[in-house]
Amino acid sequence: MLSDSLKILLASTQSFAIKTQNFHWNVEGSNFPQYHMFLDTLYSDVNETIDPIAEYVRVLGSYTPGSLQRYAELTIIEDQTKIPRAQLMFAELLQDAEKMGELVIQIFDQATEDRQQGIANYMAELQDLYGKKSWFIRSILKVERE
Ligand SMILES: [Fe+2]
Repeated sequence: MLSDSLKILLASTQSFAIKTQNFHWNVEGSNFPQYHMFLDTLYSDVNETIDPIAEYVRVLGSYTPGSLQRYAELTIIEDQTKIPRAQLMFAELLQDAEKMGELVIQIFDQATEDRQQGIANYMAELQDLYGKKSWFIRSILKVERE
């Protein structure tokens, strides 16, 4: 069901946002100011999508999960309890952002099939968001040319 997929997206977005904020606080390295700021923007942009996703679950007539336990059960994003080095943080975030991108594409197809064009439209926006964020992270990870 479309609402079940949106619940997975909601939980995954919460997990991704928490991880991004963790990395924003704890990242270190010679590019600290840029890393710290990039992760702040990434966190806010992802965090902003939580409420619309949650409300679409209600629009579809289902209740929205709102507890850490439910999010842990539903999320597709693996939790990070350690403080990895900057390069590893970005490698992990790239993998996660790509996973999020794949998930929103799946939900786009499901919403289109259910003729929920507003939700499909929002999934298209999220595909764009995760595509752009992945590009940024990929560029951060690229070894500089001499
Ligand atoms: Fe901050």
